[in-house]
Amino acid sequence: MSNRRVNGTTFLIAAIVATIGALAFPVWSYADRSGTGQANVAAGTVNTQWGPLTAADRDLIVRVRLAGLWELPAGQQAIQRAPSAAIKEAGDHLIVGHTDLDKRVRIVAAQLGVELPNQPNEQQQGWLQEMSAASGAEYEYKFVNLLRAAHGKIFPAIGTVRNTTRNTLVRQLASDANQTVLDHITILEKTGRVDFDAIANDAVAGTTASPTGPAAPVPGQVAPSAPAAEADDDVKTTSRPSPGAPGTVNTNRPDPEDTAGVLR
Ligand SMILES: [Fe+2]
Repeated sequence: MSNRRVNGTTFLIAAIVATIGALAFPVWSYADRSGTGQANVAAGTVNTQWGPLTAADRDLIVRVRLAGLWELPAGQQAIQRAPSAAIKEAGDHLIVGHTDLDKRVRIVAAQLGVELPNQPNEQQQGWLQEMSAASGAEYEYKFVNLLRAAHGKIFPAIGTVRNTTRNTLVRQLASDANQTVLDHITILEKTGRVDFDAIANDAVAGTTASPTGPAAPVPGQVAPSAPAAEADDDVKTTSRPSPGAPGTVNTNRPDPEDTAGVLR
């Protein structure tokens, strides 16, 4: 008897849920969807021959341009006044990478009709002033860590746009920028002066979430080694896993070309 009552109750709840769902669906699907994520994306989107161009796409284009506007003078200063070869090498990478990316972003922006800034933003100007005012070891610390922090901020933003964009020009720009940013992060870290504690602390400042992931290893206990995850031997492959030696980023892509003739 109690079984029958449970079944009856379950049926009643299911029926109510189904009814509410049936009533709510048409309301949701035909009502004004302003305020939803999709509506927000659509509101800032324009169509182009290379696919829709969203506000997030345009934001990345502007940020790539801005990165060059302050990293070029920062790199030049490093070559001219840094006491150590490692900092000069980093400055060299900043200049080469952003000269290349700047031409790419100017071509893409011209094709998509996006207006670009011609001055670093206020924050970036502040960083340049901070570096100019410092000297010796303090200058080197500021150079490496201001630049490493800025690259760490744009790195995930590039990944997000690379994932979501429907615009082929923005997708390629995101791929190119990703490579350059990783190269700059790598070369800044090669100086040995990156303050990783500061980066880690800054990333979690203001968050309250508990860390997730596997339990911490127990000191003195050896974890069992994992078996290889691999395809069967009879599957033939031809590609290589990485475009450069560990600790390097292959930046040997062809120079950008203004094939559409959009640059003046
Ligand atoms: Fe950079």
